[in-house]
Amino acid sequence: MTQRVLILDFGGQYNQLIARRVRECGVYCEVHPCTTPLEEIRAFGPIGIIFTGGPGSVYEPGAPDADPGVFSMGVPILGICYGCQLLAKHLGGSVVPAQQDTAREYGKTATSFDTRSPLFVGLPAESVTWMSHGDYMERVPEGFAVIGRSAACPNAAIADDARRFYGVQFHPEVNHTQHGAEILRNFLFGVCGALGDWSMGGFRQQAVKELREKIGGGTVLLALSGGVDSAVCAALLSEAVGEQLTCVFVDHGLMRLDEGDQVEDAFSHRELRFVRINAEERFLSRLAGVTEPERKRKIIGEEFIRVFEEVSREIGAVDYLAQGTIYPDVIESGAGSAAVIKSHHNVGGLPDHVNFKEIVEPLRLLFKEEVRQLGRELGLPEELVSRQPFPGPGLAIRVIGEVTKEKLDMLRKADAIFREEMARSGMSAASDQYFAALTNMRSVGVMGDGRSYDCAAALRAVSTDDFMTADWVRLPYELLDRVSVRIVNEVSGINRVFYDITSKPPATVEYE
Ligand code: XMP
Repeated sequence: MTQRVLILDFGGQYNQLIARRVRECGVYCEVHPCTTPLEEIRAFGPIGIIFTGGPGSVYEPGAPDADPGVFSMGVPILGICYGCQLLAKHLGGSVVPAQQDTAREYGKTATSFDTRSPLFVGLPAESVTWMSHGDYMERVPEGFAVIGRSAACPNAAIADDARRFYGVQFHPEVNHTQHGAEILRNFLFGVCGALGDWSMGGFRQQAVKELREKIGGGTVLLALSGGVDSAVCAALLSEAVGEQLTCVFVDHGLMRLDEGDQVEDAFSHRELRFVRINAEERFLSRLAGVTEPERKRKIIGEEFIRVFEEVSREIGAVDYLAQGTIYPDVIESGAGSAAVIKSHHNVGGLPDHVNFKEIVEPLRLLFKEEVRQLGRELGLPEELVSRQPFPGPGLAIRVIGEVTKEKLDMLRKADAIFREEMARSGMSAASDQYFAALTNMRSVGVMGDGRSYDCAAALRAVSTDDFMTADWVRLPYELLDRVSVRIVNEVSGINRVFYDITSKPPATVEYE
C-alpha cells in the first residue's frame, strides 16, 4: 500500500500548495479538516501529519483545533505557522499576540537555521523565508529546541527530535521561501521515512482497478466539454470499462478553431461509445440578439443541459454519471465532507432529467497538474492535455455583444493566428492564458485604396498563479506587430488590433 501523509487543514490560504509540494516529492497526501476524528486519522494510517497555517489565533475561544490524541500516535508532526503555534499550545508552550511590531512578520524574512536538525540538514545556515504571522510563540514547550531564528522572532522553528515533532513559523510551501521544498523533503524523507512511492503510473493502475470494482458491468455516461478534466476522465474510464462508457460531446459551435475535431480525433480510436452532437445552430439561434454577458452565459448553460438531457434520454438509464471534479474543488467544498458536484462545463447545473443511480468522480483526488500528467500517461495528445483554461461558454464570452456565426469565424481565425505566433516565437510559456477577443467596436481604416469600416480584435495574454489575480504579459513588440499584420491581412472583417494592458484586478481575464 502506498504511504500516505495527512494534512490537517486549519483554514490557511496555502493549504493546497502544501499538498501539491508533498505530492511533487512522490509522496501521496490528502487534506482533511482539522476536526477529523481521531479514529479516522488512525484509520488513514499516515506516516506523517502536517498542520497547516490558518487565519485564527490559537488562544481565541473556539479557534480551530485538532484532537490532542494525534500527539500520542507516535507519528511525526510538522506544524506550519498556525500549526506550529497549535503544537506549542498543546505541548505546554505559550502563544501570545505580538506585543511590538517587531515580532509581527509579513513577507520575506532573513532566517537562520540549525543545520544539524534533520529538518534543515543540507541547507545553508541562513536564507530567506516567507512569514505571515501576527502571533508569537512566547515560550517554547518543554522538550523542544529552537532550530530557527529571525531578527524579530527568536523562535522561528522548533524541534523535538525524540517525538519527531517540528514547527516552523514560516511557510515552506511558498516559492518565496528559498529552501522550502527541501525543508518539506527533509521532513518527509528524513523524518517520516517516506519512500517516494507515489507515481502517476501507480495512480492509473489503482484507479482503473477501483473503477472496475465499483462499476462492474454497469454503464457510465460522461459529458465531454473539450477541456482537460473531462477528457482525462474519459480516457481513464475508457481504459477501465471500455464500451460500458458513453461520452457525449456537445459541440456548441463556440470552440476555437478545429477544437471540436481534435476532441473527436482523440477519442475516435479508443474503446468507448462516442457521441458528438453538432448543436451549433441551436446555440446560435438561442443567442441571437442577446448582448448581456450573464444572459449569454445562462443561455449556454441551460441549452447545454437540455441537449445533454435529450441525448441521454435516447441512451436510456445509466448506472453512473461521471464528472471530472478535481481536488481543488473537493478541498474548497470542505475536504472529507460531501462532494461538490461540478456542473458540466462549469456553466449550468446538474441535469434534472438524466436517469442515473450514482456519480463517479475518478479525478477527485488529483490536482490540475496531476490530471495533465495522468492524461499523458493515458496517451492523450499534448495539445489536449496542456490546453489552457477555456471558459465553458467558450468564444461566446470573447465576442463582445451579440454572437453571430460570422463574428465567431473571424474570431477563430484571429485567435489561431495569435496562438500560432505565440508558439512560434517561444512566448507560449511566458503566459498562462492568451487568446484573442472580438470587440464590438467598428472603426474606419484604409485597405489598399479603399475605405474599410470593420471590427477590432483585442489580444490578451496574462500570467498568473491562481487566476484570481493576473498581470498582462510584456510581449515583444515584434511579436505583437507580426500578429497584428497577419490578422488584418488574413482575416477579412478585422481592420484593427489592440493589445490589452490591464491587469486583474481591476479587469478580469475574460471580457464578459
Ligand atoms: P475571469 O474572467 O473571471 O477568469 O478573470 C478567470 C479564469 O476563469 C476562466 N473562466 C471560466 N472557466 N467557466 C470556466 O470553466 C466559465 O464560465 C469561466 N469564465 C471564466 C477564465 O478563462 C480564466 O482562466
